Amino acid sequence: MKVSAIAAIGKNRELGKDNKLLWHIKEDLQRFRNITKGHPVIMGRKTWESLPTKPLPKRYNIVITRDAKFKAEGAVVCNSIEESIKKAAASAEGFGEPKEIFIIGGGQIYDQAIKKGLVDKLYLTIIDPPAGGDSEADTFFPDYSEFKAVISEKAGESEGYKYKFLDLEK
Ligand SMILES: NC(=O)c1ccc[n+]([C@@H]2O[C@H](COP(=O)([O-])OP(=O)(O)OC[C@H]3O[C@@H](n4cnc5c(N)ncnc54)[C@H](OP(=O)(O)O)[C@@H]3O)[C@@H](O)[C@H]2O)c1
Repeated sequence: MKVSAIAAIGKNRELGKDNKLLWHIKEDLQRFRNITKGHPVIMGRKTWESLPTKPLPKRYNIVITRDAKFKAEGAVVCNSIEESIKKAAASAEGFGEPKEIFIIGGGQIYDQAIKKGLVDKLYLTIIDPPAGGDSEADTFFPDYSEFKAVISEKAGESEGYKYKFLDLEK
């Protein structure tokens, strides 16, 4: 079973600010839905709290926190990344046995999962905002230079934003 991470990042690996996304690009949100639908999704507690709709529909939602008492309605709560991957792998609830598990953020969870070597594949959207567009961030995606194999690459443009969908493996 494959563990993948999916993220939309700026050219300097920007991810978010004030517990919000920096960009809302229709094509990127659509890609996120299409790729993750029907699969388990693993996220940090802050990303869970940032979601406008909780849980993410048609996906087995897992939230990671160090708080043993944390409750997340509609999601399973785990206290480590390793435990969350085991839970995701064992989840068949309504979706069949998962073939791919998605780590969907945020910065802390991407960082630890990649540094621990738990991630096999990256689905990145690399965003180039229009001139003067705000990309100031307080949360960043980790270095991913070990992912060297380009599986697919597709450029696009939407509402002044240039973006590239880039799927990578090691
Ligand atoms: N651009 C994108 O694709 C994308 C995707 C997702 C998120 N984001 C952005 O990223 C930002 C949030 O990221 P973040 O780094 O601040 O937070 P995060 O990774 O979403 O969550 C951090 C929380 O996860 C828990 N945690 C972290 N490591 C843990 C471990 N080893 N064991 C158990 N629990 C652990 C802790 O929860 P407790 O404090 O409860 O213990 C920690 O506070 C937001 O701005 C969001 O919009 C962007």
